[in-house]
Amino acid sequence: MDMDAQAWNERYATSELIWTDQPNRFVAEELAGQPAGRAVDIGAGEGRNAVWLARQGWRVLAVDFSAVALDKGRAFAERLKVGGQIEWHEADVRTFSPEPGSYELALLSYLHLAPDALAGVFQRAARALAPGGVLLAVGHDRANLEHGVGGPQEPEILYSPGALRDVLTACGLSVPRAETRERPTPEGVALDTFVLAFAPPEADGVSAEG
Ligand SMILES: C[S@@+](CC[C@H](N)C(=O)[O-])C[C@H]1O[C@@H](n2cnc3c(N)ncnc32)[C@H](O)[C@@H]1O
Repeated sequence: MDMDAQAWNERYATSELIWTDQPNRFVAEELAGQPAGRAVDIGAGEGRNAVWLARQGWRVLAVDFSAVALDKGRAFAERLKVGGQIEWHEADVRTFSPEPGSYELALLSYLHLAPDALAGVFQRAARALAPGGVLLAVGHDRANLEHGVGGPQEPEILYSPGALRDVLTACGLSVPRAETRERPTPEGVALDTFVLAFAPPEADGVSAEG
């Protein structure tokens, strides 16, 4: 059911960026002005969010299984002079584990996989967060099928705020926001699931040495 790396490489094989050079609007709205740290962008594609984060001062690990997308991201980052802040890593996120406890931000932007695979990705993303770190996920909402435009049409790979809240709560994160949001596009209004979740803060009085 999931598209493989070769299919994504073929989709990316054009000289233009197939998405855009602008970050996702919800990512930018949420993170503009926040203190920068280490971020992992899971399913980073051509790096529109990774490059934006780097320009805000973040150091980013951008992971995708499409070598073509990563090459385009690398060139894009070089053009904007933030190449040194982004590591481009070719890996299948269905098995890739970012270093646990290491990131102030885990970002998933329109990564659509079979539900079991996606749950595993979220579990590893949650584990990768440093204390107090934030997980931001945005994806096409199931309600988009009937009430929105664009996006994948297979209901089983679409997001829903309730299901995502349950997955992330089970990972030990607090989930203050899980909602369906409208995203205007030239074709009409698209409906996205937007979720913000936080790792527990470091316990008071506990030093790094325990
Ligand atoms: C719709 S694009 C979104 C790209 C980027 N996050 C953005 O918002 O522009 C989905 C991306 O997920 C990547 N992807 C899909 N399945 C993957 C997998 N199993 N492992 C790694 N990357 C994957 C694709 O190569 C593609 O770049």
